[in-house]
Amino acid sequence: MEDKDLIAYARDAREHAYAPYSRFKVGAALLGRSGKVYTGCNVENASYPAGTCAERCAVGKAVSEGEREFTDIAVIGDSEGPCAPCGICRQVLSEFNPYMRVIMTNLRGDTRVCAVSELLPGAFAKTDLRDA
Ligand code: THU
Repeated sequence: MEDKDLIAYARDAREHAYAPYSRFKVGAALLGRSGKVYTGCNVENASYPAGTCAERCAVGKAVSEGEREFTDIAVIGDSEGPCAPCGICRQVLSEFNPYMRVIMTNLRGDTRVCAVSELLPGAFAKTDLRDA
């Protein structure tokens, strides 16, 4: 799948964002090794910390459907530059594949692509757990 196609999925998912508090809508599209795309949007809450990001929404959908290997994720928001995943989402993406390509973009089409490991160098990982 080409990056522009994954971005199109993310852009569509962004339309479903529930962001009445920040008014900052985000969409994500996660590409599984199987070729299947899992979309996500941010879902905010009146109890602000209970809100979730688009990226983690997509990961939750994918894992709950049995997929755990991901090659790419596209993220889109109406940001000044390419929309970058927050720190918690970087950690969550790193869990599944530190080399996953992250395609960050905005509504203007400004785009940056890099690996999760570049966004979160030295991430805590399952190999750091002694007994897991
Ligand atoms: N947000 C995401 O969903 N993903 C990102 O990559 C950046 C931030 C959401 C969280 C919150 O609902 C809103 O954007 C403003 O921070």
